[in-house]
Amino acid sequence: MATAQPLQNLRIGIAGLGRLGQRHAEALAFRTRHCSLVAACSPVASERAFAGEQLGIGRLYEDFDAFIADPEIDVVVLVTPTSLHANQAIAALEAGKHVFIEKPLALNLADCERVLAVAEKHPQQVAMVGFVRRFDPSYLAAQASVAAGEIGKPFLVRSQTCDQNDPEGFFVRFAPTSGGIFMDCSVHDIDLARWMLGRPKALRAFATGTNALHPALAEFGDVDNGLAVVEFEGGAKAVLYASRTMAHGHETSTEIIGTAGKLLVGEHAARDRIVRSDSLGVRHAVLGDFYERFEAAFAAEMAAFVAACRGVQPLTLTLSDALEATRIGLAIARSLRSGMPEAV
Ligand SMILES: NC(=O)c1ccc[n+]([C@@H]2O[C@H](COP(=O)([O-])OP(=O)(O)OC[C@H]3O[C@@H](n4cnc5c(N)ncnc54)[C@H](O)[C@@H]3O)[C@@H](O)[C@H]2O)c1
Repeated sequence: MATAQPLQNLRIGIAGLGRLGQRHAEALAFRTRHCSLVAACSPVASERAFAGEQLGIGRLYEDFDAFIADPEIDVVVLVTPTSLHANQAIAALEAGKHVFIEKPLALNLADCERVLAVAEKHPQQVAMVGFVRRFDPSYLAAQASVAAGEIGKPFLVRSQTCDQNDPEGFFVRFAPTSGGIFMDCSVHDIDLARWMLGRPKALRAFATGTNALHPALAEFGDVDNGLAVVEFEGGAKAVLYASRTMAHGHETSTEIIGTAGKLLVGEHAARDRIVRSDSLGVRHAVLGDFYERFEAAFAAEMAAFVAACRGVQPLTLTLSDALEATRIGLAIARSLRSGMPEAV
């Protein structure tokens, strides 16, 4: 990977200022070193006003094509609906920008392959997909332990992404562009499983699910609780659970089981290190949402991306990892519809 501007601050433009984009924007504006957030793009006037008034950003765009043509932007961060990622990433690369793409890369393989092909033509530019858990200190420590052979040969990953129930049903409106619960939530667990198991080839997937609280999802062929099993070459397996309906809070946890031990990351969703004991029992506060759980990881992820753009640190996470995660997610989604195991 070549260096673009190793010594100067990168000028970043962000597209998408919704649920996650606003948080990325705040972190980039106030808490990320070696870069300045100089531009923002959103079709929504209130989101542009947020960027101008709250973050002090002067270059505000309603139109993505005008945004991408701005010569004062070195780097584009895409936090837009997943269905737009591929075309916007390609436009950013072709405009000479480095690009960060929120997960998943795209909702079909042809789109993933188009992004990879364009990225290959621009080897001087960094293109990274935001699998944030790879930057979480606990997941990093677990992966280092697995790689050092401390649990022997890993053969099973059990991983879950479970959100607290949102009675407003934000994700129901989100369903048409998210790719469904597995592509939206389990794609993180899929990437983790591949990472922990040493990137084996996936062979087959089976999925099932139910709508426990949000029947409106059925219209989109989606579920609010989904279970999947993925079989890999060499015998390793992943067992995935995703939920939109937890009563207690957000709970992302992963168990990596090997021939000489196992690791458990994130169990019990504890918000802090306080355990309260009183006449009601023994309990701790729980995490409210994914951002509370992974705020430090999001910061480390953006720092790693900026470092890669400045040429000071190579990326370990590749676009082909992101393509494989989409490939597995698609087989899982097909199985949910067919009720049968599907080849990956
Ligand atoms: N890494 C994670 O854990 C994580 C968590 C949440 C969301 N995400 C990903 O982030 C992306 C956004 O999710 P969200 O929850 O913030 O969604 P959202 O719907 O809240 O936000 C989407 C934003 O994109 C903007 N937008 C729509 N069309 C646009 C266009 N043509 N150009 C520029 N902006 C446009 C919208 O105005 C909105 O600001 C999705 O791909 C999602 O999968 C990742």
